[in-house]
Amino acid sequence: MQNKPTVKSLLNAGAPIQDLELTGWVRTRRDAKDFSFIELNDGSCLANIQVIADVALDNYAAVRHIATGAAIRVQGDLVESPGGGQNWEIRATAMEVIGAAPDDYPLQKKRHSDEFLRTIAHLRPRTNKYGAMFRIRSRLAQAVHGFFEARGFDWIHTPIITGADCEGAGELFRVTTLDLDDVPKQNGSIDFSRDFFGKEANLTVSGQLEVETYCLSLGNVYTFGPTFRAENSNTSRHVAEFWMIEPEMAFADLNDNMDLGEEMIRHLVNFVREECRADLDLFCRFVDKSLPATLDNIADNDFIRLPYTEAVEILQKSGQNFEFKPEWGKDLQSEHERFLTEQHFKRPVIVFDYPKDIKAFYMRQNDDGRTVAAMDVLVPSIGEIIGGSQREERYDYLEQRIIELGFDPADYWWYLDLRKYGSAPHSGFGLGFERLLMLLTGAANIRDVIPFPRTPNHLEF
Ligand code: 4AD
Ligand code: MG
Repeated sequence: MQNKPTVKSLLNAGAPIQDLELTGWVRTRRDAKDFSFIELNDGSCLANIQVIADVALDNYAAVRHIATGAAIRVQGDLVESPGGGQNWEIRATAMEVIGAAPDDYPLQKKRHSDEFLRTIAHLRPRTNKYGAMFRIRSRLAQAVHGFFEARGFDWIHTPIITGADCEGAGELFRVTTLDLDDVPKQNGSIDFSRDFFGKEANLTVSGQLEVETYCLSLGNVYTFGPTFRAENSNTSRHVAEFWMIEPEMAFADLNDNMDLGEEMIRHLVNFVREECRADLDLFCRFVDKSLPATLDNIADNDFIRLPYTEAVEILQKSGQNFEFKPEWGKDLQSEHERFLTEQHFKRPVIVFDYPKDIKAFYMRQNDDGRTVAAMDVLVPSIGEIIGGSQREERYDYLEQRIIELGFDPADYWWYLDLRKYGSAPHSGFGLGFERLLMLLTGAANIRDVIPFPRTPNHLEF
């Protein structure tokens, strides 16, 4: 493909360019006596470029009917713009409509609500805000890979279809090819031996168990891909399909894990501030005025590290009228997480050493017999953004925990094998990519940071 200019490359041009060709979508058109001014956007950047068509064009009469939303091809020259506001504009020598947009194009020039734009998720990336959001999302994903690449982590492609329930929370989407109108049964229950894999299968809730196996052979690794949870919670922070970044470090304990999580979040905050300036600026100005301060706060301050037991004490002594009473042994609610990060410490907080009964089976048991080496990273306005732990590397402890929780050790034979042959301390975590984007853009609803959000009763597009 030849090196065709984009709006972005043209707006950054160092000198005029003769006879170029540009394609894109019309944002607006306004007419003067012998001219039409078209604001053209091609998605390469937030800004539009102004295209000037004049009466000399042989199809000038048709140009004056080009509507907002139309796809056009322009030929012309890049010239210095006499008007204020932009350095360059295009003087068109030819203009062709590739795809017209009738009057009912839903994105006429006005501000639309996020709720409305969700109903036209196929068109919302043509708005300034969502164009910016999904350019940032793309850059950020690349930056995640760059972060690990620079630190010698290998990227492992863990499976999406799996037989394991990593978190043990039962929030699984089943994968089956059985005929639902005629399900094979044996002794009254479903006969999964007749299903595609000859056993029960589901979409993964986490690549952790599989990535651990590669950690204990390649060393530091990560997986980054889609994960699925059938949790029926209609909140602004949950979707049924989301992307998770899960690093796993060999010969590493909980402190190493906290260090990595903190370093990673800070690195990505700095990346977006430096590399996505124009797009980020839109969010700072129109979405969340406190965003610059939030990002500065994360970049400039160490995260607080706080044992769960102390966190509960702080909450109990806070004098706050929480909906859920903070109590040792109960999970922190989002109101508790937000109190700690937004009011008490006013910065990100890593809570660690949670009660073992509220955490997953694979977490390393602490010597106190009642907590595990878990950690959650909590950030202002979102709450939990990272969940992780040091893993139980001792065969007997792990097997006993699996039995205690009513699982069958035989289902975990390969996971237990890792503890039998050359076991080693290792640690990792999961960072929710959408929650990270919410943090970095100030978006209040997770549905607005993923192209096509999947939530209960919503599977349009
Ligand atoms: O805390 P979670 O459940 O941890 C795990 O899945 C571990 N196996 C990860 C690991 O140690 N490798 O989920 C990790 C993160 C959460 O902190 C949150 O950011 C995000 O995944 N997350 C969700 N994001 C959007 N929608 C949902 N329904 C989410 N559930 C979890
Ligand atoms: Mg969690």
